Amino acid sequence: MSLTAQEVAIDLGDRSYRIAIGGGLLSSATTYDGLPRAGAALIVSNTTVAPLYMAALRAALSERYPQVHEVRLPDGEAHKDWQTVQKIFDVLLERGCDRKTVLFALGGGVVGDMTGFAAASYMRGVPFVQVPTTLLAQVDSSVGGKTAINHPQGKNMIGAFYQPQLVVCDLDVLDTLPPRELSAGLAEVIKYGPIADMAFMEWLEAHIDALLARDRAALVHAVRRSCEIKAWVVGQDERESGLRAILNFGHTFGHAIEAGMGYGAWLHGEGVGAGMVMAAELSHRLGLVDAAFVQRLTVLIARAGLPTQGPVLDSNDNAGRYLELMRVDKKSEAGEIRFVVIDGPGRAALRSAPDRLVRDVIDACCK
Ligand code: NAD
Ligand code: GLY
Repeated sequence: MSLTAQEVAIDLGDRSYRIAIGGGLLSSATTYDGLPRAGAALIVSNTTVAPLYMAALRAALSERYPQVHEVRLPDGEAHKDWQTVQKIFDVLLERGCDRKTVLFALGGGVVGDMTGFAAASYMRGVPFVQVPTTLLAQVDSSVGGKTAINHPQGKNMIGAFYQPQLVVCDLDVLDTLPPRELSAGLAEVIKYGPIADMAFMEWLEAHIDALLARDRAALVHAVRRSCEIKAWVVGQDERESGLRAILNFGHTFGHAIEAGMGYGAWLHGEGVGAGMVMAAELSHRLGLVDAAFVQRLTVLIARAGLPTQGPVLDSNDNAGRYLELMRVDKKSEAGEIRFVVIDGPGRAALRSAPDRLVRDVIDACCK
C-alpha cells in the first residue's frame, strides 16, 4: 500500500472539503494551500498537545497568515464546557480578530468539538480547519461538522452543525498517543464494520494487532476507510434527519456511561466499546442478529483493549439510572429512547425498545 498522502472528499455542495491523510502533513505549508486568506489565524489546542505540535503548526501557518495567535485550553472531557469555550472567544476579541480569521483545532475530539463550536458562533461564523491528533478524532470527530460542548445533564447537548474547510490527518502525531487513547480511537473504527461494511470488520479482525502496534500501512487503511464510510453517510444526511444516526452505534449506552461516571472517568471510546456490546445484545434480543454475531463483535472490541461490559452506575437501580440518562439522548423523541441497532450484519437501523428488554440487556451487560 502506498504511504503517500491520500485524500477523501466530503461532498456537501458549497460546504464540500477534503480530508488529507498521510505523514508529515501538519508541518508542511503546502498542506494548507487553498484555504481562505486572512490577516490572522488562531490555533486552539490544549496543555498536552500544544507542547508537542504547536510550534510545527505555527511555523507552517506563518507562511500563509501574517499573524498566528494561539490559545491553550485545559485538557480533558471535564473541560468541554461553556467556561472553556469562553477562553477561545476571549482571545479572539482581545486580539481584535475579524470575521475572516481562520481557527485551527489542534488536538483530539474535545478540542475539535469546542473549536468548531466557537468557529460556528464567533461573529456568526468564521472558517475553521481540523488538525486531529487522536485516532478517534481522525476517523470520526473531525469529519462531518458536528460541534458541541457538554451540559452536566447530558453529553454534547449544546452545539451546531458547522463544517470545517479542511481536515488534516497527519499519522505521525499518533506516535505520541497513549495506548489507552489509541484503543479508545479503535472503538470508533470498529463501529463502521457492523453498521456499514462487514468486509472492513473482517479486515479489522485480521489487522487489529497491527493497528495496536501502530503499523503505518494498517493505520492508513483504517483511517481512510473510516473516513470514506463517514463521508458516504454525511454526504447523504448532513444534519442527521435519518441515516446519520447510525454513526451513533453504541453511543446511547456509551453517553450514559460517560455522564453517569462523571465526564473523563471513562474515555468516550471506552463508553462506545461497552455500548456497542450492549447495543448488539439489544439487537440480538430484538431478533435482528444471532448470538454468534454479538460474540464476534465482543471479541474484536476486547482485542482492541476496550471494555466489553458497562459499569454499575447505581447499586440500587442500575438499569433505572441508565434509562434516566439515556432519555436525555438527542435521538430521543417525546421521551422515547431510540437505539441504533444492527439490523443484520453490516446494516444499522434506529429502533425503540420496551424498557423491560433494555433493562434485561443492562443487567446482562454490566458488572
Ligand atoms: P481527547 O480530545 O480528550 O483526547 C484524548 C487525550 O489525548 C487528551 O488528553 C489529549 O490531550 C491527548 N492527546 C491528543 N492528541 C495527542 C497526541 N497526538 N499525543 C499525545 N496525547 C494526545 O479525546 P478524543 O478521544 O480525541 O475525543 C473524544 C471527544 O470527541 C468526546 O468529547 C466526544 O464526544 C467527541 N466526539 C465527537 C464526534 C463528532 O462527530 N463531533 C464524534 C466522536 C467523538
Ligand atoms: N460521530 C457521529 C456523527 O458524526 O454523526
